[in-house]
Amino acid sequence: MFIDYSEIYKLGIESIDNQHEKWIDLYNEFNDAFFNENSPIKSDKVKETIKGMYDYATYHFKYEEDFMYRIGYKKLADHRRLHRDMDTMIYDCLRKITDGVDITEERILYILRQWIINHILKEDREIKEYMLSNNIQEN
Ligand SMILES: [Fe+2]
Ligand SMILES: [Fe+2]
Repeated sequence: MFIDYSEIYKLGIESIDNQHEKWIDLYNEFNDAFFNENSPIKSDKVKETIKGMYDYATYHFKYEEDFMYRIGYKKLADHRRLHRDMDTMIYDCLRKITDGVDITEERILYILRQWIINHILKEDREIKEYMLSNNIQEN
């Protein structure tokens, strides 16, 4: 299931917005490979794209956590915990795919997508709200 990147995902923090757009692109590449290859569990493209998405998530989470630290964000610990949960979830998906486990029927694909959407729209947006109410400029 494709994620259609649009304005609603924009927080107004340039660096983070750019990363979200890139991350959604990588998710879509994985999604495409997974549903378009004849045999997703054997496809190198599926393995490559889930790895790309996982690596980018690692980079993005670290960036966002450093960003939250810099601005003195109060809910950093909770937010970091959510990132770790997601990290575990994508890694689990990556491992299964690498090990050749058929996850075609698993809810994990649906959950990944929902997590990305909900996290950006709710938890990441709260970072911007915090910046606005505390008059913090940072990009
Ligand atoms: Fe986040
Ligand atoms: Fe984020």
